[in-house]
Parts: sequence; structure tokens; C-alpha cells
Amino acid sequence: MIEEDLPEPQKGEVRVRVLAAGVSAYDLMFRRSGKLPGTPKVPFTLGEDVVGVVDKLGNGVTSFAVGQRVAGATFSIGVGGGYTEYICLPAQEWVPVPLDLDPAEVVCLVVNYLTAHAMLHQAAKVKRGESILVQGAAGGVGSALLDLGRQAGLQMYGTASKHNHDVVSGFGATPIDYRAEDFVKRIQHLTGDGVDVVFDPIGGGRQVMRSYKAVRRGGRLIWFGVASTKQSGLRVIPFTLLAIGLLKLFPDGKRLPTAPDLGKDHAGYKKTLSELIALLAAGSLTPIVAQRIPLCEAARAHELLERGRYAGKVVLVTDEG
Ligand SMILES: NC(=O)c1ccc[n+]([C@@H]2O[C@H](COP(=O)([O-])OP(=O)(O)OC[C@H]3O[C@@H](n4cnc5c(N)ncnc54)[C@H](OP(=O)(O)O)[C@@H]3O)[C@@H](O)[C@H]2O)c1
Repeated sequence: MIEEDLPEPQKGEVRVRVLAAGVSAYDLMFRRSGKLPGTPKVPFTLGEDVVGVVDKLGNGVTSFAVGQRVAGATFSIGVGGGYTEYICLPAQEWVPVPLDLDPAEVVCLVVNYLTAHAMLHQAAKVKRGESILVQGAAGGVGSALLDLGRQAGLQMYGTASKHNHDVVSGFGATPIDYRAEDFVKRIQHLTGDGVDVVFDPIGGGRQVMRSYKAVRRGGRLIWFGVASTKQSGLRVIPFTLLAIGLLKLFPDGKRLPTAPDLGKDHAGYKKTLSELIALLAAGSLTPIVAQRIPLCEAARAHELLERGRYAGKVVLVTDEG
């Protein structure tokens, strides 16, 4: 843990006292590799998603009031920044949050649900009644895909370790034990000719080839992550990119739409985040908080991520959160 001076909000910025900060597979990858493009010089602060209370306004900010609760992502300041007690971000990064919502549940929406929403509705453009296979279905983004997929009226299948099958079936999806079963065969058996869309945040050459096999002719594969770097290291990244490049050349009627970059569509992400917060307030979403861990024990949160055996999102909380 590092003690720093309280940051002063610059013109147009809002300083927020953090209540909850998200922890993700992405943070783990940056911390363990230290060599990915964009990695700041050590020491740096990880974390991309926060919920907190407006604490001080920079000059010119009129859209927020001190004491108001807000949520936001740190995309605009590069990698990380979220595991902290106080953070300053431009006012346009923040979205208002009703006071009666649980900050740990709201923080699940900021990156995980936004990602899931973008993959379902921008990349895959799913239609009610379509069938989907979610890889890593009990993970942070995977469980968000199932929650939003249920909302969208999809028929869902999800790969997960056996101990996470209740989570997958809790969202109305059929669980598949990727450790004990061949998911391609199981999907062919369950559907006849494959699913309309596979969402793959796991990556790896063999994995994406097999995910592609589980897509029916005319369907789509949405690849958007390399969670398998946890077991296999960064070498899975070039193999994944090679496999995706080759699959795009196959003239077999299947498509691989590119996953949108959340950080680039600023207005879009804020609008969708506000809609997701409204859905949570209405009781229509069920984000899974895997564990709430005190911010000062962030290292323990990373140990949990390394060990696995959790479902949903690990969240760091401060005394008030
Ligand atoms: N492109 C984007 O915009 C974007 C945004 C957010 C996240 N991501 C990426 O998405 C990935 C997942 O992030 P996350 O935070 O959701 O991770 P997470 O919570 O750690 O979940 C990862 C899940 O992967 C599962 N898993 C591991 N190996 C698997 C395999 N071979 N087959 C099926 N499932 C497997 C684990 O399931 P069990 O525990 O059940 O075994 C775990 O639940 C990361 O690579 C991250 O960088 C991309």
C-alpha cells in the first residue's frame, strides 16, 4: 500500500471518495506480466471501475454536487487507477447512482456489464430466441453476459467448473463442465448444429478454434479476452490472434465481428451505464459479488483471483462501502 497526498481536482474534474473498486482478470494480467503495452511504470495503481461519493469539484464543474453518489471507469487515464481511497476524473466520466443501491453491486456494472452489453448488442447483435454459449460463464463478464442474455430472451449455455454450475443455472443457462466434458460435442448434442453465438473471453489458439466449431453455420464467434493467460502466460496472446486471423479467412458462413472498445465510445458507454443502473434499481439485474475485501487487503483479492474458485466479481470496499 502506498500513501500519497490527497489529489486535487483540476479544472473540469471531480474528486470522488471511493466506496467500491472492482478487481478483474485484466488487473491480474497487468500485475503479473508487467510487460503489456500501456503498462505504467511501477509502482502504479490497478483498477478500472469505481463507485463513490463526490468529495470535491474542480473549477467549472456544475453537473455534480458534493455528497452525490457516482460510478465511473478509469479508461480516460490509461491503465488502472481504481484501487484507491480518492480519485480525480473528468466530470464527463461520472454517472449518477441512486443512494439506495449497493456500491459493490453497482461496480459490477461499470466494466463487466458494460462489456457484456457491448458484446451482446454491438458485436453479436443478438435477437430474442437466439442461442448462445458463454465461455467462462461464472466469471465477472461471463455472469454479466448471462444476466443480460436472460433479459434479452436468449437460450443460453455456459461453460464453468462444476462448483460454479449453480451460478450458471441460476441465470437460466445450461451449465457445461469444461474441465470434464468436450464442450463442442456437448453443444452439438444439445443443439444439433451449434449455437448462434459463442462469447469467448478465455482465448488460446485451440480454445478459439473449438469455440468456432460450436458456432452453427451463419452464426458468430465473439472473442474478447485472454483469461487463459492466468494458466498459460502471455504466449497465448499471439496464438489467439493467429487463430482468429485464420478463422476470418474460412469461407464457411460463420463470422467473427470485432469486439468494440469501450474506452473509445465515451457517450455510448455513459448512456448504457445509466440504463444498466436503472435496471439494477428496478430489480431487473442480479450482479454477483464474489467477495467484498477491504481496499487495504488488495493483495488478498489478487490471491483469490489467482486461486480461482469464485463466481462473479471480486470487489474492494472501503470502510463506508
Ligand atoms: N475486451 C473487453 O472489453 C474486455 C472487458 C472486460 C474483460 N475482458 C476480458 O475478459 C476476460 C475475463 O475477465 P473476468 O474479469 O470476467 O475474469 P474472471 O472473473 O476471472 O473469470 C474468468 C472465468 O474463466 C473461467 N475459465 C478459465 N479457464 C477456462 C476455460 N478453459 N474454459 C472456460 N472457462 C474458463 C473461470 O471459470 P471457473 O472458475 O468456473 O473454472 C472464470 O470464471 C479477461 O481476459 C479480461 O481481460 C475483456
